[in-house]
Amino acid sequence: MGFITIKEAIAQGEGAAELRGWIYRERESNKFKFIVLRDSSDIIQCIVKREDVAQELWDQVVKLQVEASITVKGTLHKDERAPTGVEMVVEELVVIGASDTFPITKDQSVEFLADNRHLWLRSQKMTAIMKIRSTVFGAIHEHFRGEGFYEYQSPIFQSVQCEGGSTLFNVPYFGQEGVFLAQTWQLYAEPAIFALEKIYTVAPSFRAEKSKTSRHLTEYWHAEMEVAWGDFDEVIRIGEALLKYVVKKVLEERQRELEILGRELDKLQPVVEKPFPRMTYTEALKILKDKCDLDIEWGKDLRTVEEDKLSALYDTPIIVTHYPKKVKAFYMTESPDDPKTVHGVDFIAPEGYGELIGGSEREADIEHIKRRLEEEGEDITEYEFYLDTRRYGSVPHGGFGMGIERLISWICGLDSIKDSIPFPRTMLRWKP
Ligand code: 4AD
Ligand code: MG
Repeated sequence: MGFITIKEAIAQGEGAAELRGWIYRERESNKFKFIVLRDSSDIIQCIVKREDVAQELWDQVVKLQVEASITVKGTLHKDERAPTGVEMVVEELVVIGASDTFPITKDQSVEFLADNRHLWLRSQKMTAIMKIRSTVFGAIHEHFRGEGFYEYQSPIFQSVQCEGGSTLFNVPYFGQEGVFLAQTWQLYAEPAIFALEKIYTVAPSFRAEKSKTSRHLTEYWHAEMEVAWGDFDEVIRIGEALLKYVVKKVLEERQRELEILGRELDKLQPVVEKPFPRMTYTEALKILKDKCDLDIEWGKDLRTVEEDKLSALYDTPIIVTHYPKKVKAFYMTESPDDPKTVHGVDFIAPEGYGELIGGSEREADIEHIKRRLEEEGEDITEYEFYLDTRRYGSVPHGGFGMGIERLISWICGLDSIKDSIPFPRTMLRWKP
């Protein structure tokens, strides 16, 4: 006989089994010790009866504390009162690693749990989130590869900005100036479409965000794609298909985890079933005015409040296009029919989870790009490698970036983005 998982033991329901894991809960009387054992798959109640085991073992068992690691051998039987419907009567128990008194008990403050993140990862909540996170990452790779994309990597040490200088992290680099952590792969991805045409990545991005919001991290995981020959509609189509695929996968594989998190499945179902509503920025302002009583001056970027009000009107992400040129990045192409706006798109999550995807069709005109970089005060010479993409066989192309923790936060219905990643980094939190 060998070890089986707790999930397998629950399915088996009766007969002999051998399990290993950690003590999730324990209590005892004179005659019994109840241990709820957990492993990565589930939890199961185990009972040790004093009369059935040697005194020496009983003495050990009584001392066992929460989070000790043990192996048990015994007999399974169904029991309605047990937390997962099956109980093991233990015949043999081996203590693998004893545990000191575990610092995390019920009702700890958010800060305490953050300081003890390395231990809090073992909680049912974090375990459920990390399983969903694993499914999300797997689904992103599957989807892009299924659509014929190559996986491609940009450097993390970079010499240019792409999403504005104010959120760049400067890195000390052998005494050199002008080395930054990646905000995005984009300027190093565009050169590669000439070789691979359809590429994607899943990689960390870094933003020196001073905002202490529930949706900003300084280090986050970024799923990005870039396609040659892709026009604006193609970029939007790929974004919508990606979100639908990932959510569908989570609904198929992670119902139990969503249930542990108390997440209602019908918040996610419409995303798979319905097409996402599309609107231009200008139309969005009109909707905000008519339905939300918010009067925003044309040309102002949508702030969190406005995104939240707008998203509250729908049960799927919404697709907002044609933003004013001046609120968007230098590389976005002007809309041919309205040059005050660009072919840039944001996918805004339901329930106030903010921008999930930001993307665009890329500007083809090299002079336009140079002018806009100069307006931003950039040194053009640093961008020569990027400008070469427009000099040697340029083709229409576009791409987007999706914030994976934003997506996970929304899928799981989390209060803060910090719970969507094992060790969150923010302006105020970089330890442990
Ligand atoms: O909209 P952003 O800045 O777009 C880009 O970086 C493009 N260069 C992507 C591309 O076209 N290849 O960022 C993309 C997404 C946002 O929509 C958001 O979901 C996420 O990245 N994001 C963050 N997530 C967590 N914390 C932060 N500080 C984030 N900043 C952006
Ligand atoms: Mg954006």
